[in-house]
This record gives sequence, structure tokens and C-alpha cells, in this order.
Amino acid sequence: MDRDTAAKRMADLRQRIRRHDYLYYVEAAPEISDSAYDRLFRELRDLEAAFPELVPEDSPTRRVAGQPLSGFVSRPHRVPMLSLDNTYSEAELREFDARVDRWLGAGIPVEYVVEPKIDGVSLSLRYEDGRLVQALTRGNGREGDVVTANVRTIRSIPLRLRCAAPPAVFEARGEVFMSREEFARLNQAREEAGETPFANPRNATAGSLKLLDPREVAGRPLDAVFYGHGEIVGLTVERQTDLLQLFREYGLKSPEFTQTATGIEEVLAAVRRLAELRSGFAYEIDGAVVKINEFELRERLGATARAPRWAIAYKYAAEKARTRLRDITVQVGRTGALTPVAELEPVGLAGSTISRATLHNFDEIERKDIRLGDLVEIEKAGEVIPAVVSVVLEARTGHERPVQRPVSCPVCRGPVRRGRDEVVIRCVNPECPAQVRERLRHFAARGAMDIETLGEAVVNLLVDEGLVATPADLYELGPREFNRIANLPGLGFKSAQNLQAAIEKSKQNPPWRLLFGLGIRHVGAKAAQILMQHFGSIDVLMNASEEELTQVPEIGPIMAESIAAFFRNDANRRQIERLRRAGVRFETGPRTSSGAAGQASLFMGKTVVLTGTLAGMTRDAAKQKLVELGANVTGSVSAKTDFLIAGDSPGSKLQKARALGVTILSEADFLREIGRDRDVAAPPQPVLGL
Ligand code: IVH
Repeated sequence: MDRDTAAKRMADLRQRIRRHDYLYYVEAAPEISDSAYDRLFRELRDLEAAFPELVPEDSPTRRVAGQPLSGFVSRPHRVPMLSLDNTYSEAELREFDARVDRWLGAGIPVEYVVEPKIDGVSLSLRYEDGRLVQALTRGNGREGDVVTANVRTIRSIPLRLRCAAPPAVFEARGEVFMSREEFARLNQAREEAGETPFANPRNATAGSLKLLDPREVAGRPLDAVFYGHGEIVGLTVERQTDLLQLFREYGLKSPEFTQTATGIEEVLAAVRRLAELRSGFAYEIDGAVVKINEFELRERLGATARAPRWAIAYKYAAEKARTRLRDITVQVGRTGALTPVAELEPVGLAGSTISRATLHNFDEIERKDIRLGDLVEIEKAGEVIPAVVSVVLEARTGHERPVQRPVSCPVCRGPVRRGRDEVVIRCVNPECPAQVRERLRHFAARGAMDIETLGEAVVNLLVDEGLVATPADLYELGPREFNRIANLPGLGFKSAQNLQAAIEKSKQNPPWRLLFGLGIRHVGAKAAQILMQHFGSIDVLMNASEEELTQVPEIGPIMAESIAAFFRNDANRRQIERLRRAGVRFETGPRTSSGAAGQASLFMGKTVVLTGTLAGMTRDAAKQKLVELGANVTGSVSAKTDFLIAGDSPGSKLQKARALGVTILSEADFLREIGRDRDVAAPPQPVLGL
């Protein structure tokens, strides 16, 4: 293709991709399938590779661009980013309205806009001639950190405004957030990968925005909504409702619920209504913001050094309870992380009885000056995990005892250490029984090697008996050991036989399960799947250099370093060799028992959701099969879903899939695709006689 034709085609592709990005990420109403989108994207990427000099900065292919930073630079805000005064009662809101009325001297009801107060991280975007040139955090309000490279990875933020004649300068201000659902998913993945979970979506958002490597940020599910402006040149905006409308036109998201209200009674009604709707929002809302609509009136009122006089926040009361801190226990995780847990006098909170709450880490205990015996305030952080938020200092009697940081592991008594730049204290003895148990539990867990019957209780028994300490030990258990297992309390012949069969069966698992099960720090299930899809076998992965690892999409330098370090370790290498000798599967690729083996799978590279009950196989077996065939199996239906496999009583996922035009397969269709109706794999037989 000649240069001119290529340039035209690329411009056309970019425009189409931008439009589809907007429909998908902002409107949540895609018009084309993921595969059609991927085709456009691939064509553009290939053309850009052939004509690199024709690639503009704001091409949709260049969202993740730039090298990791060594730190953040500060830049001034052209218009300061103010804060808001807070109110906590309707009476205070009435006072605000009375003040506004007095200052304006209008004597007529003022028109306000009521918006949700999004509990995220505030951000200012600067567009020049419609192109995103800078993203700044709020910082101290006068200057903030430049986070442009990270913000460019947020797919709902346009790199170019959707507008034929954009103003010379347009600064949009809003909030970056993580939806509750995505936050829960991220935290689960972090826990599975041996990383410390975030306390709440806001911390997760702030932490993500401050990552130094934009490639890592691209993997964090960030989103943003806009509700304010900074400098605007070349355009006059007269009121908040116009600004919100402008955001929508430009392709920037604005809050879902915004309501105009004339006079305080209407304001209060809107604030109450928002409180009712609050739990239905995808993101956390900690209050309502009431703002004067007309910018000209705002100017007449002005601002104090801290906050404008024309707006106020009304904070909803968090669900809190007070109770006594009886004790602090310390849990030792798979990676040796010591996590303090508050043991509380049971108390009711938001419909459940709470007797334990997270304290995150020992720095936090010190910062909040939490002492044993204190009366503490607990809150449902992120409305999911209860956490101790503060101490009721007035209730101190003087008998409270300070909390000691552990100087040794509470389980093995071995030494503990605090890592560089880490708040977490870790037990450094890899043979610590708590770590040994947790590692085995993780290895056998459903998401990993899925060794049925090898749950927490059985793992504990086997470890206490000295029968196993590492995953490889499981595969080396012989008839004598299984006889001993059959005689353990609570077990018996049948249980031992089942365990043996389950261990045997797990050898055939796709190797990503093994990789995930090994518990390499930072390597979650998803990363394990990506890695195995890329390298094809544990051996190739094991010998990959850090550099080769970072070439894999979505694998950042921290993960690469962790993987390389794991496989450099002699003890780990010995484990791997023993697992190989035991016959655990190391290679991806079709298994001979599959009827569809050798054929290109319909599911390769597709996003698939399972719903309802399958008659012929368990959900987990179906999922495993799909993953082996190259599918990405997810839990909820979205516009990205390619197939929904619907069993009996499919429920709301089916409705949603229909609404989104997702291809729906019955169980019979699915079985036909995977060849199970022709070739049902025989159930594995125990090979070791008891
Ligand atoms: S307006 C000059 N509107 O709340 C007034 N702020 O506590 C600027 N926030 O720094 C703020 N949702 O980060 C406004 N709908 C909303 C908001 C909102 C969340 C944040 C914002 C601000 C903080 C003040």
C-alpha cells in the first residue's frame, strides 16, 4: 500500500476505533463484536508498524506508551483545585442555602445541581486543541503530580475530544475511581498472587495512579467521571448543566445521577433520593455535592482559600459501630506476610455480626494508636470488609495495653523481616509450618490444581503427620502413606482412596494451574494463563529471561523479576523436577482425550461466560476445558463476552447476554463443540493400590 493510501486508511481506522472505544467504555453500548473491533485494531497496528512516521501521539494504539518513570514531577494548576466544605445534616444544608441567599441578596430560590460525591481520587485533565496534553493529581490544590502517561491508559478517557472544533484549552476535572466489582476482583487476584490487598477502592485507585510503570497501570481497572472545569479558553460555558452536557458530547463520562433543584426543599429531596440510589452505583459514593448552577452567580460568591462558597458537600454517615478490642491475633500467609487481625466483642453492623476485623498492618495500628482493650470504631470499608477505623479516645481507662510488633513469627518463632519499601512484616523461614500449610492449601485450591478433598483440614492433618510439606510430596505418596492417611482421625479408607484419585487426576491439569499453584509472588491465575499461552510449556517459561518475560503483554517488570527469581532458586528447581518425574503435565496443547483435539477451537481467544447448571459436567470442569481450548472464562456478561454457555436455570446473565447480542450456546452446543458427546473421557482410576 502506498503512503497516501495508508495514511487515509489509518485515519479512517483511528476514527472508527475511537468511536467504538467511546461506545464501549463511555456509553456501555457497543455496536460491534469484540472480534470485529480486534480486526480494526490489528489492521491499524500493522499499518502503523509499516509507517511508523505516520503515528500520532493520540493514536488509540498508543495508550500505553512511554518508559517507566523514576518519580513524579509537580506542575502548577492554572486554576487552583479547591476542596469542598462538608455538612452532615439537613439543617446545615438549609444554613448553606440561607447563606447563599443572603450573599446574593436575590430573595428568589436559587437553582442548584445535586451530584453524587464520588469517593475516588481527583484529577485535572488538560486538552489543548482537543488533545490530551496533561493529567495532574490534585496535590495541594495549587500544584499536583503529572500522571499523564498513567491516565492515558484509562480507556474511558479520550485522548482526543470528540468534537470537530475543540476549544483551544479545556480543562476537565473529575474523579478517577475503581468500581466495587473491579476492586473486589483486583483484591482477590492480589491475595491469590500473595500480594497485600488494598483497604478500599480509593486506596486501590490512588495506588494505581502512582505506579511508575504505565504498563502496570493499564492492567488496573480504572475509570473516571467528570464534574468540574479548570481553565477554558475559546469557549464560554455558563452553567453546570451545560458543562455536564459538554462532557458527554466530548466523550468524557459525567456522573450518572445529576439533578437540578430549585430552592432548598427540592435540594433536600434530591439528596435523599441520591442516598437511596447510592448502593446501586458501580462506584463508592460518600455523599452528595450541591452546587449553584449558574457560573455567573458562582463568581459573585467567590471562594475562601480552601473551598468555594457556591458549593457544599453533604456527607452520608458511614455504617459504623463501636465495640471492644479484645485481642490481636497474627495470621501468617503463604508468602510469610504477618497480618494483624482484630478480635472483637461481637457487634452488629450493616446487618451482620462482626467479631473480627482487619487491621491491615502494624504501621496502621501505630498510626491509629490502637491498644488492646480499647473501645474502637469499626466501619465497613468499601462496604465489604469490616475494618477498625479509629479509637474512641474518651473511653480510655489507662488499662489499655500497647500492641507489640512481632519480633518473631508467631507460628515457627523464626525471624521476621520487613522488606524494602514494604509495610508488611514477613516470616522469612520458608519451612514455617504456617507457610507450608498455606502453600499447600493454595496449590490444591479450586482455582489452582483443584485437588478435591484436599481442603484446609486434610492439609493440616497431612502436614502435622509429616507426610507432606511441598506440592511434589503429594505426588510421591505411596501405598504405605495412603494406608497411614486412611487411619488418620476423621478420614478412612474411602477418603484416602478419593484423595489418591484426586491427586492423580490433577496431574492432567493444564499447566497454567500448576504455575498458579506454585504460588510465585505476583503471579495470579490470569497471569499464569497468559504466560502459559505465550510460552507453551513450564520448561520454556522456566528458562525465559526477565527481558523475555516482560515482552509478554500484561507482564510487568515486577512480575518478571519475581518469576525469574523463583526459577533461579535451586530448591524450586528441584521441586519442578520432582513434579515432572511424577508425571504432572508441563505442556499446554490439546490433550488426546479431547474429541476436538487438533482442530482449531471455536473458543480460542474468546471471552466466555458459563451460567446455570450443566447436566453433563461440573462448572469447574467446563471452565477448565474452555481454558484449555484457549478461552478467557469470566464471571459476568459484558459487551466483551463472545459466548454465553447456558445450562439449566440460567437467570439474569442470559437476559443480559440477549440484550447485548452475545452468542448463546446450549449445553448440547457446547458439548458438541468440545467433542464430549463423541468422546467422553473415562474418569481417572486410582493407580496406587491400598
Ligand atoms: S466539585 C471547587 N463535585 O470531593 C469544587 N467534587 O471533598 C470542586 N468530589 O476535591 C469540587 N465528587 O475530589 C465536586 N460531584 C463532585 C465531586 C467532587 C467528588 C471530590 C473532589 C473534591 C472533594 C472535596
